Amino acid sequence: MATAHQPGSVGLPIRAFANRGRASAIVGLGVELPSRIVTNHDLERMVDTTDAWITKRTGIRQRHLAEPGTATWQLATVAARAALKEAGVRPEEVDLVMVASSSPDAPFPPMACRVQEQLGANNAWAFDMLAACTGLLYELSIADAMIATGRAETILVIGAEVLSRIVDWTDRSTCVLLGDGAGAVLVRPATKGGGIRSWCLGADGRQWNLLTYGLQAETGAYAAGDAAAHFRMKGPETYKVAVECFAQMVTAVVEAAGMGVEEVDVFVPHQANSRIVEAAARRVGIPLDRIVLSIDEHANVSTATIPLALHKAARTNRLHGGDRVLLASFGAGLTWAACLMEWEGA
Ligand code: ACO
Repeated sequence: MATAHQPGSVGLPIRAFANRGRASAIVGLGVELPSRIVTNHDLERMVDTTDAWITKRTGIRQRHLAEPGTATWQLATVAARAALKEAGVRPEEVDLVMVASSSPDAPFPPMACRVQEQLGANNAWAFDMLAACTGLLYELSIADAMIATGRAETILVIGAEVLSRIVDWTDRSTCVLLGDGAGAVLVRPATKGGGIRSWCLGADGRQWNLLTYGLQAETGAYAAGDAAAHFRMKGPETYKVAVECFAQMVTAVVEAAGMGVEEVDVFVPHQANSRIVEAAARRVGIPLDRIVLSIDEHANVSTATIPLALHKAARTNRLHGGDRVLLASFGAGLTWAACLMEWEGA
């Protein structure tokens, strides 16, 4: 078995490129958050933690948790339906449905097929994406490429999580960080001269062991309570590499679009910890008031975090036609992705 190298011992392979071909744009957004809210104070009664520690170290104040028995595909369906409704698009018009998740319901059938069935998106093909927190942006890059090459016109890009199912609720170092929810974006060819301009896509499998879940096959231990069955993280090491990765990919993707970071109007990052995003933004020179942070409301919802934050940006009137919007994500694998787009607006 390959061993993982020490974080920071080699450079991250960061590459970015400008888009060619037909541009694609986000034309609809939908989200779903379970109604049950668990605050930091509620967690104080479950593990040895405090609201002050969680808020100061992560920016998280509360998370939404699904009721036991909730399937990830069910949250995905609600978010997808909302995205279609917002865009005024019928399910039969959808060519492709993708669902990314770090907490999939089962290896198969694909959750995307359950969503397709529920929506009645009968003309679509459908599959799931496993790339941890980066899954949604990896999907978006596929959607963008499918549209650029004329192989699809209407694509549902979904991130959905029931992370409460994979968390070790006795481990204070991880259980306070995660929440449940879903987000969907509907992607179509750009029609107003905007759309996605550049991409940074990467992975570094040498650092696979920073974040893991469900490694029982490798440990050979399937006993109840087996540590490998739960989400595990080397927090401080991950923090360090995440800041470095965010800073490098943001610089690279903005340069690939022929712009400077000062031209970014709205920065919508994946949010595992508000301090990671703010440290990276400071390093590259993005003013903090251009970051859309929603981690306080729902914690880290892995693949759903970026659509949830985009939705917050939309509902708080922070997205306008012509805005240069930067999306960036980092997660287990390691995996990362960033894209720069010109927002098309309604
Ligand atoms: N409440 C109180 N104390 C805690 C808690 C808690 N919930 N968790 C840990 N501590 C304690 C530790 O035991 C330690 O105590 P000690 O000094 O007595 O040993 C102390 O707090 C400091 O612990 P650190 O882990 O060093 O704390 P740090 O400041 O690094 O913050 C955190 C931890 C928030 C997890 C941070 O490391 C982080 O955000 N890491 C990156 C997370 C990330 O990017 N994840 C990727 C995506 S997740 C995914 O892929 C699904």
